[in-house]
Amino acid sequence: AFSPRVFSGIQPSGDLHLGNYLGAIRRFVPLQDTHETIYCVVDMHAITVWQEPNDLRRATREVAAAFIAAGVDPKRSIVFNQSQVMQHAELAWVFNCIARIGWMNRMTQFKDKAGKNSENVSLGLLAYPSLMAADILLYKATAVPVGDDQKQHLELTRDIAAKFNNDYAASIVEQGLDPDFFPITEPLIAGPATRIMSLRDGTKKMSKSDPSDQSRISLLDDADAISKKIKKATTDPAELPLDVEGLKGRPEADNLVGIYAALSDKTKAEVLTEFGGQGWGKFKPALADLAVAQLAPMSGEMRRLIEDTTTIDGILRDGGERAAAIAEKTMHDVRRIVGF
Ligand code: ADP
Ligand code: NA
Repeated sequence: AFSPRVFSGIQPSGDLHLGNYLGAIRRFVPLQDTHETIYCVVDMHAITVWQEPNDLRRATREVAAAFIAAGVDPKRSIVFNQSQVMQHAELAWVFNCIARIGWMNRMTQFKDKAGKNSENVSLGLLAYPSLMAADILLYKATAVPVGDDQKQHLELTRDIAAKFNNDYAASIVEQGLDPDFFPITEPLIAGPATRIMSLRDGTKKMSKSDPSDQSRISLLDDADAISKKIKKATTDPAELPLDVEGLKGRPEADNLVGIYAALSDKTKAEVLTEFGGQGWGKFKPALADLAVAQLAPMSGEMRRLIEDTTTIDGILRDGGERAAAIAEKTMHDVRRIVGF
């Protein structure tokens, strides 16, 4: 008996890019019609790797601006930053004591980010999925729209919810609460753009944290920059295949067709019906036009909003208060369940 509620977060850890937009932010907007929606700038996640304080403050406003510019309505949705609602840290600690170290050690994102240096990364980086579970479960969110890279973390959130419900089953009942105290949250990973790859190398994820990747399409890029980056995207020499089967083993082609499909609300098959058998010289300019038409107005609006710090800070403050009201209800129960 959980009401349909969506939670999703973005880290203020660098340049927002096309992958964040297609995999997450763009999908936040229609969910406002069907769910109660809570969108968070996860600044506490960002500091799991070093962030200059002033950069963090600027990037936090930038992510909030991106939400609004993309069509998230701060009246219909709760928009806030994580550090303003202290219950995130409080529940994360309880979850640190529920989750097992072995679960954390298996996370592929941790292994990727820690690399060979796993003894000298922050403890927070290892515990990251536990904080993410707290973000989601504080609001008893039933669904989380994310990109494919977050799938494993969502599974861990479900494991933490189930273990908490199970470990504390007797106490939950004793407190007169619903035995399904935390929901088993559904990941919403769907559509043709669940994992946008780098335009330089179709085998690497487009990511905020790779400063050397000049091919990344930033949500702050103007029309000219967007168009140039798409025209320079690495491709194989063959023409576009006639069907989706023909995209197999062609990561760059698959990526560009996926981006076109996501931006135009089509399937890859539909895009190939239109462009199959044609060369990149035909497809790339069409993709560039489409991307410019969608992204350039948004980047203009983002740039305007980033300057208007009073408005952005007001939205985050108001959202923080609304989020805290829900979060405190959950924490109030959790404290009693745990025995605090
Ligand atoms: P990043 O991985 O760029 O640092 P975050 O970890 O803050 O970004 O993720 C924010 C959201 O953007 C998540 O839902 C994540 O799954 C999504 N996302 C990140 N990169 C991509 C990508 N290349 N393609 C699709 N979705 C992505
Ligand atoms: Na990510």
